[in-house]
Amino acid sequence: MSTVKVEKYRPKFHFSPTEKWMNDPNGLVYFNGEYHLFYQHHPYGTEMGSMHWGHAVSRDLMTWEQLPVALAPDEKGMIFSGSAVVDWNDTTGFFGGKPGLIAIFTHHNDSGLTQKQTQSIAYSKDSGRTWIKYEGNPVITSDIYRDFRDPKVFWHEETKRWVMVLACGQTVCLYHSPNLREWTFDSEFGEGIGSHDGVWECPDLFALPVDGDRTKLKWVLLVSIGAEPDIKEGSRTQYFTGHFDGRTFVPDEASQTIRWLDYGRDNYAGVCWSDIPEEDGRRIYIGWMSNWKYSNKTPTEGWRGAMTIPRELTLESRNGEAVLIQRPVLELEKIRTPLLEVEGEAVNELNLILKDQQLETYEIVAEFELAQGIDSFGFKLRTSEREETVAGYSVKDSVVFVNRTRSGVVDFHKNFAGIHQAILPSDLQCLQLRLIVDRSSVEVFADDGLVVITDLIFPSSSSLGLSFFCNGKNEIPYQVRIYQL
Ligand code: FRU
Repeated sequence: MSTVKVEKYRPKFHFSPTEKWMNDPNGLVYFNGEYHLFYQHHPYGTEMGSMHWGHAVSRDLMTWEQLPVALAPDEKGMIFSGSAVVDWNDTTGFFGGKPGLIAIFTHHNDSGLTQKQTQSIAYSKDSGRTWIKYEGNPVITSDIYRDFRDPKVFWHEETKRWVMVLACGQTVCLYHSPNLREWTFDSEFGEGIGSHDGVWECPDLFALPVDGDRTKLKWVLLVSIGAEPDIKEGSRTQYFTGHFDGRTFVPDEASQTIRWLDYGRDNYAGVCWSDIPEEDGRRIYIGWMSNWKYSNKTPTEGWRGAMTIPRELTLESRNGEAVLIQRPVLELEKIRTPLLEVEGEAVNELNLILKDQQLETYEIVAEFELAQGIDSFGFKLRTSEREETVAGYSVKDSVVFVNRTRSGVVDFHKNFAGIHQAILPSDLQCLQLRLIVDRSSVEVFADDGLVVITDLIFPSSSSLGLSFFCNGKNEIPYQVRIYQL
């Protein structure tokens, strides 16, 4: 019998690098049937260091093939975050009239007296396996901004040109280009709006139909915030909705209020894939499942960092406002095996069934009727006598939460243990909860993806129990399905 040794905390179905350090997803692009995932990578250490672009590809977004490092530092600096596009019409002239891949990234140079960040490009004629850096690099420089990075580029069909959104201090700047080599500044967005708890990083800008209606498009701007040390939440990502005419982003009324993409602590620097075929029509997002507060200290060995489950983003109207909804991509269903399906009201009956389960990696899809007299309810995941991660809902406050104070190893950083929560609409009659549990993470999708909490956990490999609790009453109408992942 062959046995496979599982490294401690190594995710089973979330992407993590075979070895060493990983942070942001970069260069997400779909080309010739492959989803490319490049990522911030330090190939010689398990902490943030000399940044390269690591590389992996997938055909199903669930299983990844790790490839050699794609981009390495050079005399212009380290390779910081950025994006990739398919240059379908060879606007760059690098591909002899054929389509090819272009990576647009930040050169980070801190060898001088002051840090210098510039934008550069590289091209690949072999589906991203090897890259040639453009000899005219850098293609954009700044005398104003010290923090000047993370270019996200896309083709804007209406104006027939490339658009770049770039993080500049605590705003984003928009540029356009006919050929990805020469760029013109258009506008700046962000002053006096949104959260300014830290420097703005990793923006993404894209259009989505509202309620699936392609005649009603709205633009979404994602902006991650590299939080100042006194911000207890650490790194977070906010989003704005609005209008974009190819030059200027104009936020709508709803964007006057800060809106977070995720209410957990571990979903940062996320961006979406470019060039998913038109007929597929999906906007697929992935984030780095960590937080700069403690990312260099998480208790893994030999490797560090994982990505969230890829999620489909949609815009849906709720109370007259277009809000961002996140759901795990459908491909997740292909890797899950049904384990049990129960319906009922009595909490002790559900617990009798759950008591026999020993579960490490799984998904729970549940629905509850919010009857009178219930205070709070939820699941205790990855439990043992000493450990549990609680994912639940407090009815009276309409608050969904994850409590990881006793989730396993928590003492590697003072800010790790904690309860993370988000408010749901107070008029809910029924709560849908979807929990995705891997060896070192839990992702909670509440109210059909309206609110998401993504949290790392580091439980013992023997903490495999699962139970349900309901305070205030011993009954709650439920429907629970569990899948092995
Ligand atoms: C975000 C970030 C980016 C930067 C990269 C460096 O997590 O700070 O702004 O390009 O990480 O690894």
